[in-house]
Amino acid sequence: MILVNWIKEAKYIKDQAIKNNEYFSNSLPMIASENILSPLCKEMLISDFHGRYAEGTPGNRYYEGCKFFDNVELKAIELSKKLFKCNYADVRPTAGTTANMAILKALIKPGETATVLDLSNGAHISFGKWGAAGIRNIELISYPFNDEEMNIDIDGSIKLIKKVKPKLALNGRSVFLFPSPIKEIAEAAHEVGAYLVYDAAHVLGLIAGKQFQDPLREGADVMSGSTHKTLPGPQGGMILSDHKAENEEDKSFLRKLSFGVFPGVTSSYHLHHVAAKAIAYAEHLEFGESYAIQTIKNAQALGEALYNRNFKVFGEKLGFTKSHQILLEIGPKKGKQASKKLEESGIITNMNTIPGDNDPMNPSGLRLGTPELTRIGMKENEMDQIAEFFMRILLKKETSSKIRKDIKEFRRNYQEIQYCFNKGYRGYDYYNLI
Ligand SMILES: Cc1ncc(COP(=O)(O)O)c(C=O)c1O
Repeated sequence: MILVNWIKEAKYIKDQAIKNNEYFSNSLPMIASENILSPLCKEMLISDFHGRYAEGTPGNRYYEGCKFFDNVELKAIELSKKLFKCNYADVRPTAGTTANMAILKALIKPGETATVLDLSNGAHISFGKWGAAGIRNIELISYPFNDEEMNIDIDGSIKLIKKVKPKLALNGRSVFLFPSPIKEIAEAAHEVGAYLVYDAAHVLGLIAGKQFQDPLREGADVMSGSTHKTLPGPQGGMILSDHKAENEEDKSFLRKLSFGVFPGVTSSYHLHHVAAKAIAYAEHLEFGESYAIQTIKNAQALGEALYNRNFKVFGEKLGFTKSHQILLEIGPKKGKQASKKLEESGIITNMNTIPGDNDPMNPSGLRLGTPELTRIGMKENEMDQIAEFFMRILLKKETSSKIRKDIKEFRRNYQEIQYCFNKGYRGYDYYNLI
């Protein structure tokens, strides 16, 4: 009998990881939902918290062995409540999508109605018919949208909410250039007895850094988010609310939210990620404000630099963006072609729908983000140089091999992670901290 030596396969996988690290360290990563982990957060991911179970809440567990993890979860809750200045935090959801599923499980029943943004106007799939909202069998009715302002049409949406009296007014955006009119929408929602849900997946770190709207102060009843985008922690999700368990209605609201997470949509909730989230909250309390300020400045500088080089950048009259993203119109169904061309030269982006697109697989735009470029120390000057690369690739159509070399050289001085406790670590290396 011939024995197969499976270690070759394991080595193959490790090799892919090493190559991927190298690939990203020589490229310009500009996907708006991505970021890199600090060394301390990374260290938590290889701790023994990985793989353990802790169903329930601190002090109230189905499994034994949780005494140190209970401390971790309590600290994560305490830090996240400080970061977002709110009364309730659940750090268990294993993704932004899981957080949204838990909220939908808690606050709306199958067949009931929710108002939403359309996917083509920048909504996320989890509030669409093919995602979590569809799984829950929720009737979805779309807000009218103002293309020029890249935002929900306020008057039309208020009218809509008053007319259809939804159970939930949902607000989730993957293309999130400008703050949403939360105050107005929340007032209308509350008038008809609906809760306002704000999905902050993309802008969570900007909110925590006090550089974006503050939804919980503007009237949102509950806010979900991803912990790995502008909040540069481990992949995961969280749920926040400023409701306080002081009366029966609020107690029941918070109980339902908690029950939505467990047993609703989690069992083991990736304890090593919770430990890394706690570290990310601490790092964001320390560095979040300066990080958010620079991330937004970079996005605005990039928008302007591209506009000056004849790219069609959305939101021109409003300064292109007030977030970490910008949206480019490339040409009818040309988004994919452009993102492929950019990657050949060393710039990693994603195609994106723009207003008016109705085929999500053949969209006409590109979404660009500055969270990761900012984290490796880039500022406004570097954004100008990056816009020049875009021009050479997409407008002048220079050969990709030449530009790839130039980008590798440009990246050489931007390898260390900033805005975190440990200085001097390269973002794409392996560490042996423990
Ligand atoms: C608005 C919005 N909500 C939810 C998600 C899903 O987040 P996750 O990838 O953490 O599940 C995304 C992902 O980008 C998003 O843009």
